[in-house]
Order: sequence, then structure tokens, then C-alpha cells
Amino acid sequence: MDQPVSSARKLPIVLGVESSCDETGVALVTLDPDTGAPRLLGQALHTQVAMHAAYGGVVPELASRDHIRRVVPLLRQALAEASISLAEVDAIAYTAGPGLAGALLVGSAFAEALAFALEKPVLPVHHLEGHLLSPLLASTPPEFPFVALLVSGGHTQLMRVTKVGEYELLGETLDDAAGEAFDKTAKLLGLGYPGGPALSKLAETAEPGLVAEIKLPRPMLHSGDLEFSFAGLKTAVLTKVKAAQAEGVLNEAMRAALAAAVEQAIIDVLVAKSVQALKQTGLSRLVVAGGVGANRHLRETLVTACKRRKAEVYFPELDLCTDNGAMIALAGLLRLVGGATPKTAGGFSVKPRWPLIDA
Ligand code: KG4
Ligand code: ZN
Repeated sequence: MDQPVSSARKLPIVLGVESSCDETGVALVTLDPDTGAPRLLGQALHTQVAMHAAYGGVVPELASRDHIRRVVPLLRQALAEASISLAEVDAIAYTAGPGLAGALLVGSAFAEALAFALEKPVLPVHHLEGHLLSPLLASTPPEFPFVALLVSGGHTQLMRVTKVGEYELLGETLDDAAGEAFDKTAKLLGLGYPGGPALSKLAETAEPGLVAEIKLPRPMLHSGDLEFSFAGLKTAVLTKVKAAQAEGVLNEAMRAALAAAVEQAIIDVLVAKSVQALKQTGLSRLVVAGGVGANRHLRETLVTACKRRKAEVYFPELDLCTDNGAMIALAGLLRLVGGATPKTAGGFSVKPRWPLIDA
């Protein structure tokens, strides 16, 4: 039988636990013995989407209870997939923030208690750091430094990433996040939760001629800085929906056209600001992370825009775009091998609000 990577080369194995919102994720990562690149050993994920769908959004109390129910079976599953035992784990990373307080507490209490029992150190991880490092697990990972476009349900930020732990905020949204804009406008169009994937699917069926007739704003496109604002877009869509309703033309074709127009407006702003961030920093690598990074149209548009600038664009594997345990384990591992001192297990604090530059 093959020897486990850990005992053959004494490479660290980090267990990661994610529970900041509506996904429970557990994963194990290590370093490749030949290349030294991070390697995913095994992961398990449970999404609560079906449970929250009935309420049209995440119900925090239900999220916390479900994390409690899922986390142990998911740990077993991840260990089985990685073919390792708990004794081989060297450190335990968990999402300490930002996110829903109760949901974060489940993951942190679980990780701290497990680490205490195993006498292993812990690594509290910033959720967004997990997202922005997640492309390092892809088959073609980016080199540092790079510009990161972080687009999730709660955040829209452009960051300069010099190395692990060195992040400079270049610009962010002044109000709604890009994911929130997808979710809120999807709701206006009567689509289920989460809205992003549903809106994007509906948009694919739109007739281009009809889409071209719908004029939506590109908020802050020409603001000259790297700030975003998406709240106005929701109001603009609401006005269009009401007008179409009043005229009796809010049929399936119109809903699809509205979906495509919103998606295009969000993408136009994200792409223009990302290109501007590359120009401003003089960097030639763009990393896209967070749930909205799963959007196919955004990916294609960024690839074209970066090619034009002779810049490279990197994405996480599709299944690592949305929340998962692998990105948390990875951030913990990279901090650990970068010389960070892990914390002794016992006691915990979560930070529901936590700027990444303070991590
Ligand atoms: O990163 P993530 O899983 O959770 C947060 O940390 O917020 O991002 C979730 C967000 C949601 O707003 C969801 O609608 C959006 O990502 N999203 C998408 C797509 N897949 C997920 N938005 C647009 N197109 C998609 N394909
Ligand atoms: Zn996230």
C-alpha cells in the first residue's frame, strides 16, 4: 500500500472547516511532495440551498442548526476520501469570519474542540482569504503578485495580493455586493434562491434583440476609481418589471431578456473595473474568486478582456468557487508553511464583521 504523504515526507496535513453561511464544508489539504504545490486530499460539502429555498433566503438559525447536524458526517466522509485518519492531521483551520455569527460559532466550536481533543493547533481563517487563494488549488495556479476580484454574496472587492497574508484593498462596493445584485434582481423576476445561478440560466434563453432594447445603468462605470455600487441596479430593474407588468408584456421572453440585461450590466462593471485595476497596479495576473466567479458569461468576458491586455486570468475550479472547506484548509496550510504561529486549541472568538486587510 502507498504510504500516506504525511509520513513519507512529513508534509503538513491541514483539516479545514467552513460554516460561515449556508454551506458546511470539511476538507484536507497538504503539499505535493514533488512540486511543493498545495494539493487537495479529500473534501466533503453539504449545501443548505434546498432548505432555505422555501424562505427565499438564508434563515440564520436554521443554518446554524444544520451545520451542527452535518459537520461530523462530513468530517468522516472527507477523511475516508483522503484515506487518512484524524491522527495524521497536523492542524485544524476554520472560518472565524466574516459571516453569520451563529453559523461561524458552530464551525469554530467544532474545530476548537476537535483540536483540543487531538492536541493539535488551530488556525482561524478569514473566509475571503480562503476565496482569493482558492485558485492555487487549480491545475494551473497563478503566481504572486496578482489582482484579485472577490465577488461573493456579501462582498465585491478588488485587492492587490503580493503574497499570502499581504493584501491591499484597491476598491469595493459602497452598497450591495455583485452576488446580492444577482440575488435581489432574480427575486424581482420571480426566480428562486439563490438567484445568481437561476438568473444566469434564464439569461441564456434570452433573445438578443429584446435584450438590446432594455437600457440599464452601469453604476460607477466611469467613476475613475475602483469602487462599485449595485443598489441602483435593483431599483432600475424594479421599474422595468413594473412597466412590463403594466403593459402586460412580462412574459417568459421578457423575463429572460431582463435577466440577460441585468447580468450584462453587472458583468460590464466588474470587467471594466478589473481591467482598470490591472492598469493601475501594473500587474498582469487577475484572479477571480467567490460565488459569482462561477458565472460562465463573466468568465468568458474576463478571458477576452484579459487576452486583449496580454494579461492572464485565473479561476478556481468550478466546485471551489462557492463556499467550501478546501479553501479554508488551503488558507490555513499556506499560513502555516509561511511561518504563522498557530493558536493553541481552546476558547474561540468569531468575527462576523472582519476586514480582510486586518487578517
Ligand atoms: O462565495 P459564495 O458561495 O458565498 C458567499 O461567501 O457569499 O457566493 C454566493 C453568491 C450568491 O449571491 C450567488 O447568487 C452567487 O454567488 N452565484 C452566482 C452564480 N453562482 C453563485 N452568481 C451569478 N452566476 C452564477 N453562476
Ligand atoms: Zn464565500
